[in-house]
Amino acid sequence: MTKVTVLGAAGGIGQPLSLLLKMSPYVSTLALYDLRLAPGVARDLSHINTNSKCRGYGKDELADALKGANVVVIPAGVPRKPGMTRDDLFKINAGIVANLVSATAKYAPSARILVISNPVNSTVPVACETLKNLGQFKPGKVMGVTTLDVVRAHTFLSDALGADHYGREAMKSHVTVIGGHSGTTIVPIVTNAKVRSKLVNKRQYDAYIHRVQFGGDEVVEAKQGAGSATLSMALAGFQFTNEVLRSIHLEKRAEPGPLPAFIYLPGVEGGKELQSKLGTNIEYFAAPVQMLRGDVVRVDVDWVDGLSDEEKKAIKICLEELDKNVQKGKRFVQSKL
Ligand code: NAI
Repeated sequence: MTKVTVLGAAGGIGQPLSLLLKMSPYVSTLALYDLRLAPGVARDLSHINTNSKCRGYGKDELADALKGANVVVIPAGVPRKPGMTRDDLFKINAGIVANLVSATAKYAPSARILVISNPVNSTVPVACETLKNLGQFKPGKVMGVTTLDVVRAHTFLSDALGADHYGREAMKSHVTVIGGHSGTTIVPIVTNAKVRSKLVNKRQYDAYIHRVQFGGDEVVEAKQGAGSATLSMALAGFQFTNEVLRSIHLEKRAEPGPLPAFIYLPGVEGGKELQSKLGTNIEYFAAPVQMLRGDVVRVDVDWVDGLSDEEKKAIKICLEELDKNVQKGKRFVQSKL
C-alpha cells in the first residue's frame, strides 16, 4: 500500500500531475490537498477506473491528507509572470514550503518529500533547514525536482541536431543536467562525446545551453501572464515521483541513466567526494542519484571526469549563483528562530 499526497493539487501543475499519478500502478491512495478546489479535483479523478483511491482535502484538513503518506509532492505556491525570475517568488513560496514541510514532519515523518515549488535552489534548503530545526532531517528523503530541465535538455538537443522521433528518444542517454534549477545554475552535461561533437561550432553549442537554461522563459512569455510551465512540469514531476515509487517497490529504473535530484550533498554517499571533485563546499546541488526503497542513498560522481572545458566553466558560474540562492534559503529559516 503506497500513499502519495500532493500539496497544491488544484494548481496548474497539481491537477495534471495528480491525473498522471492516478494512472500509476504504484499508487494505492492518492490524497489531494490545496487551499481551494482539492475535493472537486479529487472527486473528478476518483471516477477514473484505476486501482488507487483518490480523496481531496480542504484548507483545514492538512493533517488527514498527510497521515500515512509514503511520498509527499509539493507544487504549492505562486508561479512566475513575464519579467519575473524564480528568485522573485521566494518571499511567498519559502513560507509555504516551510509550513508544509513542518506539517509533513509531524504527520508523515517517514515520507519522502519532493519539492517542486520555486525557487528550488532556495526552497530545498528551506525544507532541509526547517527539518533540521525540528530534529527530523533525513537527508535521503528530501529531493528538489529538477527533472523538467532534463526533459528540456533532451528535447532541445534533438531539436538542435535535427533528430527524428527515434533520435529524440535516444537523446535520453546522451545528456543530463546538474547544478541547480534556475538560469545559469542549470548546467546541461552532454555525456556522449560523439553527440557533443555534432554541436559543431561554439555558437550552436552556446545556443543549446542557453535554451536549456532559459527554456522556462519561453513558456512564461507565451502564456502572457497566466503562469509558467504546468503540463511539461506535470510530466517531469510524474517521471520523478514514479522513479521514487518504482524504487519503493524495488523495481529498477526503466530509462537509461539515473535522474538527477537537487539534494543535500553531505548527507548522502558520494556527496563529499562530489564536493571535493568540483572544488567546492556547496551543500546543495543537483546531480544524478541512486535510490533505494525510495530514498536517495548515493550521488553519482563519475560524470565529473568526462567534463569538457566549457562544462567546467559553466559549473564555476553555476556555483557562484547557487551559493547565493542556498544561503538565502538558509537565512530565511534562521531568521524565523
Ligand atoms: P498555480 O498557482 O497554478 O498553483 C499553485 C497551487 O498551490 C494553487 O492551487 C494554490 O491554491 C496552492 N497553494 C498555495 N499555497 C498553498 C498552501 N499553503 N498549501 C496548499 N496549497 C497551496 O502554480 P503552478 O503553475 O502549479 O506552479 C506551482 C509552483 O511550481 C510554482 O512555485 C512554480 O514556480 C513551480 N514550478 C516548478 C518547476 C520545477 O521545475 N521545479 C517548473 C514549473 C513551475
